[in-house]
Amino acid sequence: MSILSIDDLTIDLPTTGGPFRVIDGQSLDVPAGGILGIVGESGSGKTMMLRAIMDILPEGADRRWSRIAFDGADVTGRYDHSRLPISMVFQDPLTSFNPLMRIGSHLVEVARRRGVARSEAKRQAVDALAAARIPDPERVFARYPHELSGGLRQRAMIAMALLAEPRLLLLDEPTTALDATVQAEILSLIRQLQAERELTVVIVTHDLGVVAALCDTVAVMNDGRIVETAPVDRLFTAPEHPYTRQLLAAIDEGML
Ligand SMILES: Nc1ncnc2c1ncn2[C@@H]1O[C@H](COP(=O)(O)OP(=O)(O)OP(=O)(O)O)[C@@H](O)[C@H]1O
Ligand SMILES: [Mg+2]
Repeated sequence: MSILSIDDLTIDLPTTGGPFRVIDGQSLDVPAGGILGIVGESGSGKTMMLRAIMDILPEGADRRWSRIAFDGADVTGRYDHSRLPISMVFQDPLTSFNPLMRIGSHLVEVARRRGVARSEAKRQAVDALAAARIPDPERVFARYPHELSGGLRQRAMIAMALLAEPRLLLLDEPTTALDATVQAEILSLIRQLQAERELTVVIVTHDLGVVAALCDTVAVMNDGRIVETAPVDRLFTAPEHPYTRQLLAAIDEGML
């Protein structure tokens, strides 16, 4: 059973030299209830794939798909991500927060958009920070983004994503900017949240270590195409596509 399935996704971005194809007729199937990794080198189209799902492509982008279904329901032709329980954590947490707004105000705003009354929104915001295992949520609520460590900021981002009560959580390089210890803590948080909330998670990363530690299934992207999708064990033991083998060889040679 897939929670999200997209057939024949093509994305063209406008450039001064004409349209530039960043995703070329690709299909993505996200199995419900696990963690799917999307891995591939810089520029392969990983972020654009997620941004297409969230309806936030760059201005002038042309996005087409022949079919899209969420939780078994065909929503082609009436796709509106804001009506579906999908949240995303963006690649750079510092630029995703407004530096002039306290962490709490960001979260309250998300809850308020769902029609929640102000006092209840504050309670939900503090609860969400606690759910992201932030030790002193009331204190973090009152902080500005730059006053937090990278790890706490990423937890606050995840808390904000949880407020929308997603069933599908998209994470774009959530641990790339963090040191190894903090990275391991965030990965463990993601795993815990996935299990306790019955979430489906899609995580974009260029780090095969993250894939090995966290994912159930992996899609490998290269130059706007998904070249291979496999259960994580099989990807590491019996990679099929030459590009996947090349990625794995690069780790063995200490290049990644
Ligand atoms: N606003 C834009 N206009 C035109 N091309 C863009 C724009 N943003 C990204 N691109 C191009 O689209 C392609 C896919 O970019 P994307 O950001 O999805 O890559 P990525 O796999 O997420 O890379 P990274 O690992 O560096 O984040 C790249 O060739 C990139 O240069
Ligand atoms: Mg990216």
